[in-house]
Amino acid sequence: MHLISPSVLSADFGNLQRDIEMINASEADWFHVDVMDGVFVPNISFGFPVMNALKKHAKKPLDVHLMIVNPDLYIKDFAQAGADLLTVHYEACTHLHRTIQAIKKEGMKAGVALNPHTPVSVLEEIIADLDLVLIMSVNPGFGGQTFIEGTYKKLRALKKMIVESGSKSLIEVDGGVNAQNAKLLVEAGADALVAGNYVFGHQSPTEAISAIKHI
Ligand code: DX5
Ligand code: ZN
Repeated sequence: MHLISPSVLSADFGNLQRDIEMINASEADWFHVDVMDGVFVPNISFGFPVMNALKKHAKKPLDVHLMIVNPDLYIKDFAQAGADLLTVHYEACTHLHRTIQAIKKEGMKAGVALNPHTPVSVLEEIIADLDLVLIMSVNPGFGGQTFIEGTYKKLRALKKMIVESGSKSLIEVDGGVNAQNAKLLVEAGADALVAGNYVFGHQSPTEAISAIKHI
Protein backbone atom coordinates (compact mmCIF):
# COMPACT_ATOMS: atom_id res chain seq x y z
CA MET A 1 0.00 0.00 0.00
CA HIS A 2 1.40 3.39 -0.95
CA LEU A 3 2.09 6.07 1.66
CA ILE A 4 0.50 9.53 1.98
CA SER A 5 2.55 12.50 3.18
CA PRO A 6 0.42 15.64 3.54
CA SER A 7 2.47 18.81 3.02
CA VAL A 8 2.37 21.04 6.09
CA LEU A 9 3.29 24.00 3.83
CA SER A 10 -0.41 24.25 2.93
CA ALA A 11 -1.61 24.06 6.56
CA ASP A 12 -3.06 27.02 8.46
CA PHE A 13 -0.07 28.18 10.53
CA GLY A 14 -2.38 30.08 12.87
CA ASN A 15 -3.99 26.75 13.70
CA LEU A 16 -1.00 24.50 13.29
CA GLN A 17 -1.78 22.24 16.24
CA ARG A 18 -5.31 21.66 14.93
CA ASP A 19 -3.98 20.74 11.49
CA ILE A 20 -1.32 18.44 12.96
CA GLU A 21 -3.97 16.65 14.99
CA MET A 22 -6.09 16.29 11.88
CA ILE A 23 -3.15 14.50 10.20
CA ASN A 24 -2.52 12.40 13.34
CA ALA A 25 -6.12 11.18 13.26
CA SER A 26 -6.20 10.63 9.49
CA GLU A 27 -4.99 7.80 7.26
CA ALA A 28 -1.84 9.77 6.40
CA ASP A 29 1.48 8.00 6.98
CA TRP A 30 3.97 10.85 7.28
CA PHE A 31 4.17 14.63 7.68
CA HIS A 32 5.84 16.28 4.66
CA VAL A 33 7.89 19.24 5.90
CA ASP A 34 9.13 21.70 3.24
CA VAL A 35 12.10 23.82 4.32
CA MET A 36 12.96 26.64 1.85
CA ASP A 37 15.80 29.13 2.17
CA GLY A 38 15.01 31.79 -0.43
CA VAL A 39 18.25 30.90 -2.27
CA PHE A 40 17.79 27.41 -3.69
CA VAL A 41 14.14 28.28 -4.37
CA PRO A 42 12.46 31.69 -4.75
CA ASN A 43 10.52 31.37 -1.49
CA ILE A 44 11.15 31.12 2.27
CA SER A 45 8.99 28.74 4.30
CA PHE A 46 9.97 28.01 7.90
CA GLY A 47 12.81 26.70 10.01
CA PHE A 48 13.61 25.09 13.34
CA PRO A 49 11.13 26.86 15.68
CA VAL A 50 8.21 25.68 13.55
CA MET A 51 9.71 22.21 13.18
CA ASN A 52 10.07 21.94 16.94
CA ALA A 53 6.40 22.86 17.39
CA LEU A 54 5.49 20.29 14.76
CA LYS A 55 7.54 17.54 16.39
CA LYS A 56 5.89 18.21 19.75
CA HIS A 57 2.46 17.27 18.42
CA ALA A 58 3.11 15.00 15.42
CA LYS A 59 2.53 11.28 16.06
CA LYS A 60 3.83 10.17 12.66
CA PRO A 61 7.30 10.37 11.06
CA LEU A 62 8.58 13.72 9.76
CA ASP A 63 9.47 13.49 6.05
CA VAL A 64 11.66 16.59 5.69
CA HIS A 65 12.29 18.03 2.21
CA LEU A 66 15.19 20.49 2.23
CA MET A 67 15.10 23.09 -0.54
CA ILE A 68 18.24 24.80 0.71
CA VAL A 69 21.82 25.30 -0.45
CA ASN A 70 24.60 23.79 1.70
CA PRO A 71 22.37 21.24 3.46
CA ASP A 72 25.51 19.65 4.98
CA LEU A 73 25.74 22.55 7.43
CA TYR A 74 22.43 21.64 9.08
CA ILE A 75 22.20 17.82 9.06
CA LYS A 76 22.76 17.53 12.84
CA ASP A 77 20.24 20.29 13.51
CA PHE A 78 17.55 18.55 11.49
CA ALA A 79 18.22 15.29 13.35
CA GLN A 80 17.79 17.19 16.63
CA ALA A 81 14.62 18.86 15.34
CA GLY A 82 13.13 15.39 14.91
CA ALA A 83 13.47 14.61 11.20
CA ASP A 84 12.99 10.89 10.56
CA LEU A 85 13.69 11.06 6.85
CA LEU A 86 15.88 13.85 5.45
CA THR A 87 15.80 14.59 1.72
CA VAL A 88 18.32 16.88 0.02
CA HIS A 89 18.27 18.11 -3.56
CA TYR A 90 20.68 16.57 -6.04
CA GLU A 91 21.11 20.06 -7.54
CA ALA A 92 22.27 21.47 -4.17
CA CYS A 93 24.94 18.86 -3.37
CA THR A 94 28.44 18.79 -4.81
CA HIS A 95 29.44 15.72 -2.80
CA LEU A 96 26.17 13.85 -2.68
CA HIS A 97 27.64 10.59 -1.44
CA ARG A 98 29.22 12.35 1.54
CA THR A 99 25.95 14.11 2.35
CA ILE A 100 23.97 10.85 2.26
CA GLN A 101 26.46 9.14 4.58
CA ALA A 102 26.27 12.09 7.00
CA ILE A 103 22.45 11.89 7.11
CA LYS A 104 22.57 8.17 7.89
CA LYS A 105 25.23 8.69 10.53
CA GLU A 106 22.77 10.93 12.39
CA GLY A 107 20.29 8.04 12.45
CA MET A 108 17.93 9.37 9.78
CA LYS A 109 16.76 7.80 6.54
CA ALA A 110 18.32 9.52 3.52
CA GLY A 111 16.53 10.82 0.42
CA VAL A 112 17.49 12.69 -2.73
CA ALA A 113 15.11 15.02 -4.61
CA LEU A 114 15.30 15.74 -8.34
CA ASN A 115 14.01 18.92 -9.99
CA PRO A 116 11.75 18.41 -13.01
CA HIS A 117 14.60 19.03 -15.48
CA THR A 118 17.03 16.59 -13.83
CA PRO A 119 17.03 13.08 -15.37
CA VAL A 120 16.89 10.08 -13.05
CA SER A 121 20.06 8.67 -14.67
CA VAL A 122 22.19 11.00 -12.46
CA LEU A 123 21.38 8.68 -9.53
CA GLU A 124 22.76 5.50 -11.09
CA GLU A 125 25.92 5.47 -8.94
CA ILE A 126 24.15 6.22 -5.66
CA ILE A 127 20.77 4.54 -5.90
CA ALA A 128 21.87 1.55 -3.79
CA ASP A 129 22.61 3.88 -0.85
CA LEU A 130 19.29 5.73 -0.86
CA ASP A 131 16.19 5.14 1.23
CA LEU A 132 14.06 7.44 -0.93
CA VAL A 133 14.06 9.36 -4.20
CA LEU A 134 11.75 12.36 -4.34
CA ILE A 135 10.60 13.19 -7.86
CA MET A 136 9.49 16.82 -8.11
CA SER A 137 6.43 17.06 -10.33
CA VAL A 138 6.44 20.88 -10.13
CA ASN A 139 9.32 23.34 -9.87
CA PRO A 140 10.00 23.51 -6.13
CA GLY A 141 9.17 26.64 -4.16
CA PHE A 142 5.39 26.87 -3.88
CA GLY A 143 2.31 24.79 -3.14
CA GLY A 144 -0.66 24.71 -5.47
CA GLN A 145 1.18 24.50 -8.82
CA THR A 146 0.17 22.45 -11.85
CA PHE A 147 1.44 18.88 -12.13
CA ILE A 148 4.04 18.29 -14.90
CA GLU A 149 2.90 15.39 -17.11
CA GLY A 150 6.45 14.22 -17.97
CA THR A 151 6.64 12.88 -14.41
CA TYR A 152 5.13 9.48 -15.32
CA LYS A 153 7.99 8.71 -17.68
CA LYS A 154 10.54 9.60 -15.00
CA LEU A 155 8.80 7.37 -12.46
CA ARG A 156 8.90 4.39 -14.81
CA ALA A 157 12.60 4.92 -15.57
CA LEU A 158 13.42 5.28 -11.87
CA LYS A 159 11.42 2.18 -10.93
CA LYS A 160 13.36 0.20 -13.54
CA MET A 161 16.69 1.48 -12.17
CA ILE A 162 15.69 0.56 -8.59
CA VAL A 163 14.58 -2.97 -9.53
CA GLU A 164 17.65 -3.63 -11.69
CA SER A 165 20.09 -2.36 -9.06
CA GLY A 166 18.45 -4.23 -6.17
CA SER A 167 18.05 -0.93 -4.28
CA LYS A 168 15.40 -0.75 -1.55
CA SER A 169 14.72 2.93 -2.21
CA LEU A 170 11.16 4.20 -2.12
CA ILE A 171 9.88 6.61 -4.76
CA GLU A 172 7.99 9.72 -3.60
CA VAL A 173 6.21 12.22 -5.86
CA ASP A 174 5.79 15.86 -4.84
CA GLY A 175 3.79 18.64 -6.53
CA GLY A 176 0.29 18.90 -7.93
CA VAL A 177 -0.80 15.48 -6.67
CA ASN A 178 -4.59 15.05 -6.50
CA ALA A 179 -7.38 12.49 -6.77
CA GLN A 180 -7.15 12.55 -10.58
CA ASN A 181 -3.48 11.62 -10.93
CA ALA A 182 -2.83 9.62 -7.71
CA LYS A 183 -3.71 6.22 -9.19
CA LEU A 184 -1.64 6.78 -12.34
CA LEU A 185 1.34 7.84 -10.20
CA VAL A 186 1.18 4.70 -8.09
CA GLU A 187 0.82 2.58 -11.24
CA ALA A 188 3.92 4.29 -12.67
CA GLY A 189 5.93 3.31 -9.57
CA ALA A 190 5.29 5.84 -6.79
CA ASP A 191 5.44 4.43 -3.24
CA ALA A 192 4.63 7.72 -1.48
CA LEU A 193 2.49 10.69 -2.53
CA VAL A 194 2.94 14.21 -1.14
CA ALA A 195 -0.16 16.41 -1.27
CA GLY A 196 -0.53 19.98 -0.04
CA ASN A 197 -3.16 22.02 -1.78
CA TYR A 198 -5.31 19.01 -2.61
CA VAL A 199 -5.55 18.06 1.10
CA PHE A 200 -5.76 21.46 2.77
CA GLY A 201 -7.85 23.07 0.03
CA HIS A 202 -10.46 20.31 0.37
CA GLN A 203 -13.62 20.91 2.41
CA SER A 204 -12.68 17.78 4.38
CA PRO A 205 -8.89 17.30 4.51
CA THR A 206 -9.40 13.95 6.26
CA GLU A 207 -11.54 12.69 3.40
CA ALA A 208 -9.06 14.03 0.84
CA ILE A 209 -6.28 12.00 2.50
CA SER A 210 -8.50 8.93 2.51
CA ALA A 211 -9.39 9.45 -1.17
CA ILE A 212 -5.76 9.34 -2.34
CA LYS A 213 -4.95 6.48 0.07
CA HIS A 214 -7.71 4.26 -1.31
CA ILE A 215 -7.39 4.70 -5.07
C1 DX5 B 1 6.88 22.44 -3.43
C2 DX5 B 1 6.89 21.58 -2.21
C3 DX5 B 1 5.72 20.70 -2.11
C4 DX5 B 1 4.40 21.42 -1.99
C5 DX5 B 1 3.36 20.52 -2.61
O1 DX5 B 1 8.08 23.09 -3.56
O2 DX5 B 1 8.04 20.76 -2.20
O3 DX5 B 1 5.86 19.75 -1.06
O4 DX5 B 1 4.05 21.72 -0.67
O5 DX5 B 1 2.18 21.20 -2.65
P1 DX5 B 1 1.02 20.86 -3.68
O6 DX5 B 1 0.55 19.46 -3.37
O7 DX5 B 1 0.00 21.90 -3.39
O8 DX5 B 1 1.60 20.96 -5.08
ZN1 ZN C 1 8.08 19.05 -0.78
